[in-house]
Amino acid sequence: MATPEVKSRIEALREEILAHDYAYYVLAQPLISDAEYDRLFTALQRLELEHPTLVTPESPTQRPGGKFETSFAPVAHRVPMLSLANAFNREGLIAWEVRNTKLLDRAINDYAVEPKIDGLAVSLLYQRGRLIRAATRGDGMTGEDITYNVLTIPDIPRELKQAVDIEVRGEVYMSIKDFETLNFRRAERRESLFANPRNAAAGSLRQQDPRITRDRPLRFWAYATLGPRNLDTHRAGLNFLQELGLPIWPDTRLCNNLDEVWNYCNEYQERRPALPFEIDGVVIKVNALEEQDILGTVGREPRWAIAFKYPPTQATTRLEGIAISVGRTGTLNPVALLEPVTVGGVTISKATLHNLDEIRRKDLRIGDVVLIQRAGDVIPQVVKPVVEKRTGAETVYDFPTRCPECGSHIIKPEGFAMHYCTGGLACRAQLVEQVKHFASRRAMNIEHLGAKVADTFVEQGLIQDLADLYSLQLNDLMRLERFARKSAENLIHAIEASKEIPFERVLFALGIHEVGEQTARLLAQQFGSIENLASAALEQLMAVNGLGPIVSQSIRNFFEEPHNQNVIEKLRSAGLQLTYSGAPSREGPLAGQIWLFTGRLAKITRPAAEALVLQFGGHTSSSITKNVTRVVAGEEAGSKLEKARKLQIPILSEQEFWEYIERLETGSKNQAPILP
Ligand code: IVH
Repeated sequence: MATPEVKSRIEALREEILAHDYAYYVLAQPLISDAEYDRLFTALQRLELEHPTLVTPESPTQRPGGKFETSFAPVAHRVPMLSLANAFNREGLIAWEVRNTKLLDRAINDYAVEPKIDGLAVSLLYQRGRLIRAATRGDGMTGEDITYNVLTIPDIPRELKQAVDIEVRGEVYMSIKDFETLNFRRAERRESLFANPRNAAAGSLRQQDPRITRDRPLRFWAYATLGPRNLDTHRAGLNFLQELGLPIWPDTRLCNNLDEVWNYCNEYQERRPALPFEIDGVVIKVNALEEQDILGTVGREPRWAIAFKYPPTQATTRLEGIAISVGRTGTLNPVALLEPVTVGGVTISKATLHNLDEIRRKDLRIGDVVLIQRAGDVIPQVVKPVVEKRTGAETVYDFPTRCPECGSHIIKPEGFAMHYCTGGLACRAQLVEQVKHFASRRAMNIEHLGAKVADTFVEQGLIQDLADLYSLQLNDLMRLERFARKSAENLIHAIEASKEIPFERVLFALGIHEVGEQTARLLAQQFGSIENLASAALEQLMAVNGLGPIVSQSIRNFFEEPHNQNVIEKLRSAGLQLTYSGAPSREGPLAGQIWLFTGRLAKITRPAAEALVLQFGGHTSSSITKNVTRVVAGEEAGSKLEKARKLQIPILSEQEFWEYIERLETGSKNQAPILP
């Protein structure tokens, strides 16, 4: 007989195992050894064997394919995951309303309207407030188990703020910017490209190894709950989800009639190009759950909801030629030169082609009529040639053998997708790009040193590398046509002033491949000085939480290159900051503040939370002193929390921290909102 004790022991074991899976996969910080983990797992298996009636499909033991792998085991949805009927114009919406009004025998004056995000639907099952299973939509009846992958998505809380049993549905998506970065990297590594953010999100979720998913920037919005039915509207459901700590779309609008609905559709059609993620329409839902129940479902589509679909932002035009743009590191990026065409209100004359493989794969020829598409405010893409329109006069594109900027040989290393200019320093295009990046606002912030000036310096031979900027003299500038005394002085001052820029930004300014602002900051903190970083072995780099093998290798490559060593020596003699000061460095609403995180965070890893504070100009600390200004206490916070209390340092819960960050994100640039 299964006693209540056995039952709760089994449940406790399952929760414990899931917690360790989380630590292992998501945080990449296992809390126990493999052997200890195995003991827990075996204990659970044994109890379940003795009490087969207590085995549930959600138990970790029921995942075929081994405990450390996402199984993609089939998951039967308790309630089918529906799709939506479509309307393509106002008439379509009116017809939908007319039919519903007849069925209800009364007018509908309460709609909830929200964007239709172009990602993929997932179901999240929470038991006593803990995420126990996540599944894809599949065919609507049966999906796939993607629990471990979903655990890696920071937007999705592992634990809700109330210990409820609830099923949540929503959309996993990738922002347009993240999608582009991902594709750009993939192109460089010769991996196949994702056609759009939606495919990228789907591909990232369906990874056998959740650690790959972890490195993909997936996001989530919740849009439905199958939870407690004592709520009476869709809106109330969303509010409840928010209370539980789930992210919901902040601008779901209640509309009293179709005119208001129509306004929302138009409003979002206009905002669409500027949204950070793709939407393909607007979802209109009858708000009252009672009315939803009466209207019911036909086939796979509810009658109480409809999708208003936007026309695709695609167009055809002619591919007039292909130009090559030279990147900072010598990558040669082919760019489609298009006969200008208007797509969704924007004139397009260029589109990215990534690399020669892409051009070949799509069989693009100069002179082709091509289909192009624009997603959000991003670089347009060439989808495919319109083969039917070929006249025979189209020509196959040959990649140049010499750099169009410097004439150096072009190479394509074995196994790489990109072509590279071998000119290195001799390629002025590369140096110009380096200087532009170095001087940019977020790097060394050298005012008056923009693209044109960078171009002139390189063109005139005034600088051979980045460090030469610091030996420029007033006279050098005055000899140039574009500088009068005043502007020359200004620039010299700006260059001089940049010597105070803190180490982490110098590191970012160096333009090491794969090292963005966050990574630069992390490296500065972890290694403290450029010598330490330059001499760090690959293993040491990879041991830094958050640094993958590719970034690590790239850092090694950079510091092994004698030319770079030379530049760094010159920068040192010039007096740049090459050690980490840890002092408040940037402007930002949190400037001068020191935050400390303690305990386990549910939504995000600690380094990621700390990165947020840094992003807003604050600093973080791992030891508690009276200088610490705020403490964020996660679960099971211990002695540090105690000490913070003694020192009377204000303490925030994780949720309060999130709300605060949200306010910072929406608030004014340098002004922090009042803290809770
Ligand atoms: S409601 C019956 N709301 O659209 C309810 N769906 O074609 C169906 N989607 O599979 C879902 N944004 O992946 C709903 N705000 C939203 C949505 C949304 C995107 C997707 C979802 C669903 C598909 C239906």
